[in-house]
Amino acid sequence: MTRVLGIETSCDETAAAVVARNADGSPHILANIVLSQIEEHAAFGGVVPEIAARAHVEALDGVIEAALQEAGLTLKDVDAIAATAGPGLIGGLIVGLTTARAMAAATGKPLIPVNHLEGHALTARLTDGLPFPYLLLLVSGGHTQIVHVAGIGDYQRWASTIDDALGEAFDKTAKLLGLPYPGGPNVEKAAEGGDPRRFAFPRPLKGEARPDFSFSGLKTAVRRAATERAPLSPKDVSDICASFQKAVTETLADRVARSLERFRTLHPSDSEPALVVAGGVAANAAIRAALEELCTDKGFRLVAAPLDLCGDNAAMIAWAGLERLEAGIVEDAASFAPRPRWPLDETTNPLFGGGKRGAKA
Ligand code: KG4
Ligand code: ZN
Repeated sequence: MTRVLGIETSCDETAAAVVARNADGSPHILANIVLSQIEEHAAFGGVVPEIAARAHVEALDGVIEAALQEAGLTLKDVDAIAATAGPGLIGGLIVGLTTARAMAAATGKPLIPVNHLEGHALTARLTDGLPFPYLLLLVSGGHTQIVHVAGIGDYQRWASTIDDALGEAFDKTAKLLGLPYPGGPNVEKAAEGGDPRRFAFPRPLKGEARPDFSFSGLKTAVRRAATERAPLSPKDVSDICASFQKAVTETLADRVARSLERFRTLHPSDSEPALVVAGGVAANAAIRAALEELCTDKGFRLVAAPLDLCGDNAAMIAWAGLERLEAGIVEDAASFAPRPRWPLDETTNPLFGGGKRGAKA
């Protein structure tokens, strides 16, 4: 049995978790504690890096202790300590990595720096034991990418956003409409019962051969609709959200279809090809439903992260650390410095933008 303690502090969640691979090979989450800082940032309408870093300093020790306690373990019982080392806000990354480094030094356990995006990418192996290769749609506050996942550390980006990340589009739409932070879940809630046909918002890049995404035009169209009709009634807000979400799901299905076709061509003998959707936006029910429909249509199996593992958490970091430990593919922790920008695939040139907020993942 291998057990790894994971630490996640790259944005506005302070999180610690313990995961294990049982002797029979099955994965197991022993503890998964996530302390959200939403209340600290809500008044500012978004994450304030300095407040986030300070909150991580204050909360992290207690969160780690709570995770070990829930797992019924002490630090001596784990085989390694994994911590998010990027991408993310530098203050939080320093807090998490330094804490992990100190704990590793005090116990003699290995320290494993983990790429936060790899955490999202490998979650489907923790929850569903999914074998390689598979296709990953990563949709979060800072990233919108399609990645071909062939193995641990073997990632090829096939598509990205050329401007805003999808979560960013949700968050900006919420702000324009006066909905509270965080935007995504509030836009989803407001869309319930709204008329998705009332506003003809654009479907950016729909029908184009390139596999990429674009969301800034959609946001501009939402702004225009909102300013033209101000002051907005609750019905207006609801209809705008429903129409926005409809445009998002249609666009996503069209864009993702390109990469499903490419995957099929590359792996013709894969009898059950899988699409994984992960990241905060993967919690959206309309998006999950649209992807389910697309996958059924294309003969793919959709593996969507369970809701509590869509957003940022440390179970995914601990798991990525465990997979790296087992495979013997571990970064040189002694000299590893946190990386605010750290693409999963360092060989494919980034598109312009790639999510302006960038640091978040
Ligand atoms: O992965 P995540 O927790 O943090 C990083 O960006 O790393 O993703 C957060 C993003 C935010 O933009 C948030 O608005 C969005 O995920 N989000 C949602 C939903 N829940 C969270 N977007 C749409 N619908 C949701 N239900
Ligand atoms: Zn994330």
